[in-house]
Amino acid sequence: MRAISGRYIAFAMCVAVLVAGLLLQPSGTAGRGVTLAAFLLTALGIRDMLQPHHSVQRNYPVIGHIRWLIETIRPEIRQYLLEDDNEALPFSRSQRSLVYRRAKGVSSEHPFGTIMDVYADDYEFIQHSMRPVAVPDPAGFRITIGNDQCAQPYSASILNISAMSFGSLSANAILALNKGAAMGNFYHDTGEGSISPYHREGGGDIVWEVASGYFGCRTPGGCFDPDKFAAQAVSPQVKMVEIKLSQGAKPGHGGILPAAKVTPEIAATRGVPLGQDCISPASHSAFSTPLEMMDFITQLRRLSGGKPIGFKLCVGHPWEFMAIVKAMLKTGVVPDFIVVDGGEGGTGAAPMEFSDHVGTPMREGLLFVHNTLVGAGLRDRIRIGVAGRLISAFDIAAVLAIGADWANSARGFMFALGCIQSLSCNTNKCPTGVATQDPGRQRALVVPDKATRVHQFHDHTVSALADMLAAAGISHPDELQPHHVAQRVDSNRVRGLDQLHQFLKPGELIDRSCAFTFYKSNWDRASADSFGQVIDMSQPNRMADMPETIGRAAE
Ligand SMILES: Cc1cc2nc3c(=O)[nH]c(=O)nc-3n(C[C@H](O)[C@H](O)[C@H](O)COP(=O)(O)O)c2cc1C
Repeated sequence: MRAISGRYIAFAMCVAVLVAGLLLQPSGTAGRGVTLAAFLLTALGIRDMLQPHHSVQRNYPVIGHIRWLIETIRPEIRQYLLEDDNEALPFSRSQRSLVYRRAKGVSSEHPFGTIMDVYADDYEFIQHSMRPVAVPDPAGFRITIGNDQCAQPYSASILNISAMSFGSLSANAILALNKGAAMGNFYHDTGEGSISPYHREGGGDIVWEVASGYFGCRTPGGCFDPDKFAAQAVSPQVKMVEIKLSQGAKPGHGGILPAAKVTPEIAATRGVPLGQDCISPASHSAFSTPLEMMDFITQLRRLSGGKPIGFKLCVGHPWEFMAIVKAMLKTGVVPDFIVVDGGEGGTGAAPMEFSDHVGTPMREGLLFVHNTLVGAGLRDRIRIGVAGRLISAFDIAAVLAIGADWANSARGFMFALGCIQSLSCNTNKCPTGVATQDPGRQRALVVPDKATRVHQFHDHTVSALADMLAAAGISHPDELQPHHVAQRVDSNRVRGLDQLHQFLKPGELIDRSCAFTFYKSNWDRASADSFGQVIDMSQPNRMADMPETIGRAAE
């Protein structure tokens, strides 16, 4: 007779204990308990061997569940015991701790010197001055958004809450974010899920994001409804309107909020039916060409009573963004702001291939948008916001130095709400009540406490920025220039960002004096009439020049 394979030993032991229990008929509670446990585990083993879905359990009845158990708690074991302080998953322990400390208002100073490897490639630092200035008052770090076509310009903070919708976040999270924004005088972007009662209750400044699903301003068929838009856009709490073209974590994909998550409140907020999946199409139905997009911007401006209108995108084909800029030049319609999101951006849920491999990273996207607007002579009329893993004051300073006017943070503010990066936003089982619609789990998030943390994270981060600027010898974020930030390029060399990146001169795309092949060739491919590219067959494929591009200047 063949010996029992080691794979079945656990199951065989359960059977043996069960048989012994049945034969001996123990009278004590412990004996009966052991027999009952052996019975349940034997039943589990039989089920494991017969079920068709899990190969490991078929081959390793009973014991195979240990693998599943360990897989389930792997993120926690890794985070609590094994994770390196600077290992980004996607945010490192150091980054998360910084937010927690700032949010709680405890000192974020740390002893003994940096734990960063300052000789590692890509290490960055601020070039400080021998003559630091007095630390400026961070209350003055505001930026006016709204050009000559805007009737109600908005004075925004240098740091704001990036788009996250009611639906991906819980009601308590939205309420705490909005109250925190009201306390600290910064804005809260609604995300594509429209303006919920929790945004209104908080009373904080709102940027209303209008995405392809037109939630809160849609016809029953899902198209843009001007009357519904106007009814909400004129609210004094709505400070700006942002047309969402794409989001870095899943550009070109659209999204679905499954029917199970569409609560009556979410359905009412978005203007969608209960019991059905809530779909965000991949593209807008209100416009299909750059020129039509300018018409849409004009329409939103009029319907909102002249509030700043802008758009958010993650850069994809360069000529498509340039086509929008050409449409601005052709029509004379100039949006008030553009928010650049990076491929490293977050989301409640996205296909892994999209999160990992679709969308230009934030820095390159920012440089490209900034340069194109400069080259088109429009930069002084359009403000640029940026989002993409911005947590510390240095992160903010670095993007301001290369062209951004202000910074947004989504996941930074989630940490301020108590998020522990359990990576369960898509399961409705968020352990901290931030990204779930389960009322039982939302209880974990106590609104007044977390609103204060949201406020404090903002304030302490902006104060840290003021300290850094003073050390660099400047008094306002808009004085930051590329040369203020340096980056190690290899073990022997460090370069200022002014040396590493290409920067266009005002108007040089229009007067055709631009010497950078990437910008020149893509500008020629762009047309205000279409998002498609104008192909000149006599030209070689200039996309081969991409590497020198939006990113690094030739050494
Ligand atoms: C849970 C969650 C929900 C989001 N929902 C939206 C959304 O509705 N609209 C949008 O434009 N971006 C959305 N984003 C993207 C963020 O606004 C932001 O652009 C991106 O996460 C980069 O910022 P971060 O690195 O600070 O998170 C979401 C991000 C997260 C984490």
